[in-house]
Amino acid sequence: MQNAAPSLRVQPTRVIRSIPKYVFWELDERKRAHRAAGRTLLDLGIGSPDQPVPECVLEAVRAATSRGDLNGYPPFRGHPEFLRAAAGYLSDRFGVQSDPDRDFMAVAGSKEGLAELVLAICEPGDVVLVPEIYYPVYVRATQLALGEPVMVPFTEQGTLDFAAIDPALIARARMLIVNYPCNPTTTTVDLAEMARLVEFARANSIVLVSDLAYAELAYDGYRPPSVLQVDGATDVAVELHSATKTFNMAGFRVGFVVGNTQVINALDAYRSNVGYGAATLPQHAAAAAFNNYRTIIPPIVAEYKSRRDALVDAFRISGWNVATPKAAMYLWLDLPEGFDDWGWVEHCMETHNVVVTPGLAFGKAGTGHFRISLVQPASVLANAAQALASL
Ligand SMILES: Cc1ncc(COP(=O)(O)O)c(C=O)c1O
Repeated sequence: MQNAAPSLRVQPTRVIRSIPKYVFWELDERKRAHRAAGRTLLDLGIGSPDQPVPECVLEAVRAATSRGDLNGYPPFRGHPEFLRAAAGYLSDRFGVQSDPDRDFMAVAGSKEGLAELVLAICEPGDVVLVPEIYYPVYVRATQLALGEPVMVPFTEQGTLDFAAIDPALIARARMLIVNYPCNPTTTTVDLAEMARLVEFARANSIVLVSDLAYAELAYDGYRPPSVLQVDGATDVAVELHSATKTFNMAGFRVGFVVGNTQVINALDAYRSNVGYGAATLPQHAAAAAFNNYRTIIPPIVAEYKSRRDALVDAFRISGWNVATPKAAMYLWLDLPEGFDDWGWVEHCMETHNVVVTPGLAFGKAGTGHFRISLVQPASVLANAAQALASL
């Protein structure tokens, strides 16, 4: 298709134009250029699961296509079966009791859910408190809402240092977004830290949003807590869960938000103005996944663990000092001396045909680091690590 004459004066809105290009978009452009130059790239950049969709999920999809409930619009809040499965999972896994009719909203993945939450709640000029190294949508959605993202520094232990923030900014804050286990740093916390976050939110009348995208990807006996396990958390908090990483279901685009009723109602008000409920078929698929989480997850986690171990070992054998992550599906490393973020990413593609993510994708504080995703078998990752470590 070709436009004969560029007659329309169309461009993205001023606010969209004011936001810098998404770093993953730029990474895609750079990958395209290398592929055009004839390179076959090993992509360890994006954290897109490569393990198969669980068989019981595929069975649920097949069954759903003959159920006869795909023709009509889905309920705004979510399909009752999906919401029941989500509530059952929260109860079984975290001991958190919830009401499927009141406490939930199905969303088309947690990235969209996070953006919708910000757009539903934040007024122009509101502050959104965000960890200084962050999953990009926290800041992008705040900018789209004409809010002001304020970065909260990490302490050495990976907890958030609120004392470093100007109290005047905290007074203007509408929301605090946290992400443990953290992408990209893989930092984890315990329930006591979650309780401190709830207390901070309560003391400052701030909505606490917990992004629990990596709820189940944890190793060596560590089990990520839910913020909703904290007594009274639903006074201030909502949490996002996603089928993406837990069940290798990124392409299904399905997750849920659960917690504070006022926040869920605001999200409902936003979503019902711009769309209908999340698509029915992914909800049937995700219902099967959450109902069977106890059997689905162990082999997925075992595979990630063997990849993590192979990658960490390979770097260590090559003389790199890397920490062993306790959770998530990444290795977060310091840049080798003499490289800046893009310089290193380009070097990895040019010299080794390997794609990694530059730390600056996760904010200024991420600069000086890079991220490797565990999205290839262990032997492939080990070879890649050996190659990268040889510089
Ligand atoms: C911390 C975090 N939150 C949310 C998401 C989005 O996941 P999805 O929209 O697929 O549920 C990701 C994906 O990488 C993530 O790392």
